[in-house]
Amino acid sequence: MLKHNVRAFSTLEDLSWAAACAFEDLARLKFVAGKTFCAALSGGLTPRLLYQILAGRALLGRIEWKNVQLFQVDERCVPPDHPDSNYRMIREALLDSGEIPPGNFHRMQAEEADLEKVARDYAAELARVLEPQDGLRPRLDIVFLGMGPDGHTASLFPGTAALEEQSLWVCPNRVERLGMSRLTMTLPLLNASAHVIFLVAGADKAETLVKVLEGPPGELPAQRIQPVDGSVSWFLDEAAARKLSPATKGES
Ligand code: 6PG
Repeated sequence: MLKHNVRAFSTLEDLSWAAACAFEDLARLKFVAGKTFCAALSGGLTPRLLYQILAGRALLGRIEWKNVQLFQVDERCVPPDHPDSNYRMIREALLDSGEIPPGNFHRMQAEEADLEKVARDYAAELARVLEPQDGLRPRLDIVFLGMGPDGHTASLFPGTAALEEQSLWVCPNRVERLGMSRLTMTLPLLNASAHVIFLVAGADKAETLVKVLEGPPGELPAQRIQPVDGSVSWFLDEAAARKLSPATKGES
């Protein structure tokens, strides 16, 4: 069974602070090397508090935002001010603080009609910004992912076409179960990342986490996040981790 790096926290707040510290620590390693720190942010509800902490007073001045480039992991095909928009959540929680130079956040324009073109343009922007890593292919430094009760991550839902994309970095994805289309980063890009951190909270994720972290290798999208030359960490709150064995949670 694949060994997972799992950290269980009492609350979503503790989980979010730990994720913010991981972001700060990894970013500093790039800053001291005189390099840009490239991060990809998921939507949904779980990461909102993390983004508020990153923009908040406690970290003021500790992150050189001029040397940070922020991307979206995925986006719903709705206008950017729609209540379901991941961009709207990230804008309200992080960007409205004014800490991040506007040009350093790269919005997925998933409201456009030609999603194939939006996907191509977004992948081109990623390629332009991501620096080749010392002979390695260009890669994201950190990716925050969530997980749904069905094991989806990003907008890679079970049984959907984007999950099988083998070369494009970004592509549209029709999610019939939701009756909607999405734009999403794909496994080739996500599995080229240096550090992937799953943020998973809530009792409704507990059963799926047992399958993903303790079950046989399977086809759930979250199980297919396996960075070729990078790490995967799972930051869980108590409710989400409650059905995991002590061994999985790193408890003696
Ligand atoms: C999205 C997200 C998605 C999310 C999971 C978990 O666009 O919805 O990218 O992958 O991370 O659905 O969502 P919650 O954090 O709201 O549980």
